[in-house]
Amino acid sequence: MAEVTEQQIIEALSRVHDPDKKADIVSLGMISGLVVKNGHVAFAIEVEAARGPHLEPLRKQAEKAVHDLSGVVSVSAVLTAERDTQGGPKGGHGHGHGHAKGADAPLLPHVKAIIAVASGKGGVGKSTTAVNLALALSRSGLSVGLFDADIFGPSMPRMLGITGDPVSPDGQTMLPMENYGIKCMSMGFLVPEDSPIVWRGPMVMGAIEQLLRDVHWGELDVMVIDMPPGTGDTQLTITQRLPLTGAVIVSTPQDIALLDATKGLNMFRKVDVPVLGIIENMSYYICPKCGDEAHIFGHGGAKAEAARLSTEFLGEVPLDIAIRQTSDAGEPIVVSKPNGPHAKVYMEIAAKIWDKVQAIQGHGRKGPRIVME
Ligand SMILES: Nc1ncnc2c1ncn2[C@@H]1O[C@H](COP(=O)(O)OP(=O)(O)O)[C@@H](O)[C@H]1O
Ligand SMILES: [Mg+2]
Repeated sequence: MAEVTEQQIIEALSRVHDPDKKADIVSLGMISGLVVKNGHVAFAIEVEAARGPHLEPLRKQAEKAVHDLSGVVSVSAVLTAERDTQGGPKGGHGHGHGHAKGADAPLLPHVKAIIAVASGKGGVGKSTTAVNLALALSRSGLSVGLFDADIFGPSMPRMLGITGDPVSPDGQTMLPMENYGIKCMSMGFLVPEDSPIVWRGPMVMGAIEQLLRDVHWGELDVMVIDMPPGTGDTQLTITQRLPLTGAVIVSTPQDIALLDATKGLNMFRKVDVPVLGIIENMSYYICPKCGDEAHIFGHGGAKAEAARLSTEFLGEVPLDIAIRQTSDAGEPIVVSKPNGPHAKVYMEIAAKIWDKVQAIQGHGRKGPRIVME
């Protein structure tokens, strides 16, 4: 099958009409960031912020138009809008909070993309997902950093099997820790695991800033952030302070039912951070004895919910003891069983996420805002 060309894609898109304007989306100049690679297509559709909520059908229509072309394996279209405020480099801040001098300098200027992995509540497998996605992105050839923003319950030292203290060659900045080819920083490297940390909000923010600013991350294609659980002020501040490219919501079938996933999603939408999609974790149970699948909580809930919330369903990860055991042992399943079915699931989800990130970045201008996605 011949590979699809950009020309063919543009042609297909020029048959898609903007419902509010009397023209097609190509001649209106709405398409940007077109990326075509081995039949995988990603692009952004630029719209005015106010129209975003009504344009999900247009996005779907554009995806379908491209999908119908021969040689197309996957299509990922995102709706983007310019941020309306100043938006410095990467446009990650400037959402109404005060601009304290110095403290507002952009963090992570050498990191090309930042993806937050979040959830409405704790214990849903956020850290497990974050570490496996980071490793999957690294296996795809990207330089990856993993930032553990869970100051009170850091998981990354254990999950990546890293012990010891970070070194500071110049006495000012620290080098990140490293394992399996990814760089990592976590409060867990700096305080003993069983020390109860009782901090107030501003101190937490100080710690986070320091871990980002004073760590020599170097050039990275992508940083994955394991967000703290829930949707409180700290989370909100992180989303405002960091130039996030997008967020991924992890949820279990139960919290999809209880609408906890919605809370996580709304937190990002509130601050104009693109939500790249939902991952359903512990989606179904795999019996360790017979390998049978049991859909204890029903099936398809997350998919339906994602559609209802106008975001993409990125995939489902089963509840399998092997996933827990490997990350408890400091050898997450993507690296310890690289050819197994679970690694494959994480690799596929990572590829989808990366497609979307590229569409957002290809959008050209810094700090695009996804309205619906
Ligand atoms: N898909 C899965 N299958 C089996 N166990 C899982 C899965 N995802 C997470 N776990 C386990 O559930 C517990 C909570 O996961 P964790 O990633 O720490 O959640 P969170 O970061 O959201 O608090 C951990 O013991 C982890 O090993
Ligand atoms: Mg966690």
